[in-house]
Amino acid sequence: MKDLTRVAISIDKRLMERFDALMEEKGFTNRSEAIRDLIRDALVEREWEEGREVVGTITLVYNHHTRELSDNLNELQHSYYGSIISNLHIHLDEHNCLEVMVVRGNSADVRALADRLIGTRGVVHGKLTMATTGKDLA
Ligand code: NI
Repeated sequence: MKDLTRVAISIDKRLMERFDALMEEKGFTNRSEAIRDLIRDALVEREWEEGREVVGTITLVYNHHTRELSDNLNELQHSYYGSIISNLHIHLDEHNCLEVMVVRGNSADVRALADRLIGTRGVVHGKLTMATTGKDLA
């Protein structure tokens, strides 16, 4: 078993009640696990701020009939080929496409790629999900 540190923290009663209610909604049965998850989230956010090696996904929804859009997205992805590990394309209907890219690399590069893809004219929805390589969180 890993080394564990026990900590006692003081929290406003109302705040703790609200947190417990949220935990229940999300299906946590253990307060410690819920708090560990929050801590890990904060650390992952920090990894992204520090420009470390990160992983994540970029999700795009767009209408492929939009003029030059498919070409522009393709061009961008080729410029950042080193950051894209995998790419999934689903034809949602006759017009709309859903694209999910798994990305890995320096957080600044990954963020720049996501910003450029999401900001491309004709992309109706885009989202970067930040995850971690897990190296420092295990
Ligand atoms: Ni498509």
